[in-house]
Amino acid sequence: MKKLLVTGGAGFIGANFVHYWLQRYPADQVVVLDALTYAGNIANLDSVKDNKNFTFVHGNICDQSLVEALLVEHNIDTLVHFAAESHVDRSITGPDAFIETNIMGTYSLLKAVKKVWLDADTVLEGHRFHHVSTDEVYGTLSATDPAFTEDTAYAPNSPYSASKAASDHLVRAYHHTFGLNVTTSNCSNNYGPFHFPEKLIPLVITNILHNKSLPIYGDGQQIRDWLYVEDHAHGIDLVLQNGRIGENYNIGGNNEWANIDIVKTISKLVEQEFINNEELAKRFPGAIAAIEKNTESLITYVKDRPGHDRRYAIDATKTNDELGYQPKESFETGIAKTVQWYLNNEAWWQSVMDGSYQNWIAEQYS
Ligand code: NAD
Ligand code: DAU
Repeated sequence: MKKLLVTGGAGFIGANFVHYWLQRYPADQVVVLDALTYAGNIANLDSVKDNKNFTFVHGNICDQSLVEALLVEHNIDTLVHFAAESHVDRSITGPDAFIETNIMGTYSLLKAVKKVWLDADTVLEGHRFHHVSTDEVYGTLSATDPAFTEDTAYAPNSPYSASKAASDHLVRAYHHTFGLNVTTSNCSNNYGPFHFPEKLIPLVITNILHNKSLPIYGDGQQIRDWLYVEDHAHGIDLVLQNGRIGENYNIGGNNEWANIDIVKTISKLVEQEFINNEELAKRFPGAIAAIEKNTESLITYVKDRPGHDRRYAIDATKTNDELGYQPKESFETGIAKTVQWYLNNEAWWQSVMDGSYQNWIAEQYS
């Protein structure tokens, strides 16, 4: 039985991971530590809030004494670290928060676990610090380059990916120097329920429902490797169960798409939903293009993201071979489920798109 501290568990992937974990390992204890930034939402954890094995703590990963107290109070043996500033565009307009949370926050967690797990009278046997990282630390690929492996040299290009790379290096150093039991996973682009609607897939779905333009950066030919979020949770589970200490594991979808094709695919899917279900036109009367079946007319090419990485692709051979990892969801089924989730959870996405978010988005596209 494990006792987990999950940082950033009220965010997109963290919340999906908590749902996954408590369903799969109902006897385990899960404590979530989350600062509830604009991206964190306590409602993401509604379905587990009454579970006796679940505790939510509102706090910051930079608060080392709070983390030490939680490790002791809950006898934590496993820390799964999701908490981060995660949106590349925000790292371009305001990198400070990324340096603070992603680098200093990770450093603060490492100091806390070292003190409690390693520096006490007896070292805590079987402890684990799992760090959730990204494929973006490897930089960018051309159309013909082979996919990123765990041996690809780090070459981060945005303040976000540079801050994640720095945190990956700190985690590695705490293993090498102090003997902390660490693992790191580097995952490709996730999608699914609870994805904050500033990211491409939920932005496109919610903009169609608001009849707003669908902004395509640059030529729209940038490529991302999309993975259904539950498959990421499963990949982390496998690393926690059988991953070798000190190793990095790539997790990906083997599912490369150009942005413009993703947007056109979602446009068609939403239109089809409106054809299949007449109620939708009544529930979303503002979704004029979807109702009139010309959703692609909302596509608008806008200025490119500065330093925009052209292509990401993950080679997950090591994780497949060593841990038996394979994504369970096909893109076809995963994206259909995701569109359905946004159609069924309007209250969720309307509530997270508050005034400050709208103002920020408006600034980006003015
Ligand atoms: P997210 O932005 O949706 O959620 C981040 C969570 O961290 C939020 O709940 C937020 O409140 C919390 N948080 C932020 N700063 C904090 C702080 N200082 N202290 C405590 N909590 C804090 O992010 P996400 O998309 O769920 O990503 C989770 C992790 O996975 C990140 O580390 C990210 O780098 C990594 N990752 C994301 C993707 C992706 O496609 N989204 C892919 C690979 C890796
Ligand atoms: O690769 C993993 C990374 O995926 C994670 O580490 C990040 O936390 C996560 O945010 C995501 O980063 P991206 O920058 O790839 O995701 P985003 O959804 O912001 O953008 C996906 C692609 O779509 C990217 O090429 C930029 C483009 N885009 C995005 C938005 C929001 C557009 O063309 N228009 C948009 O409006």
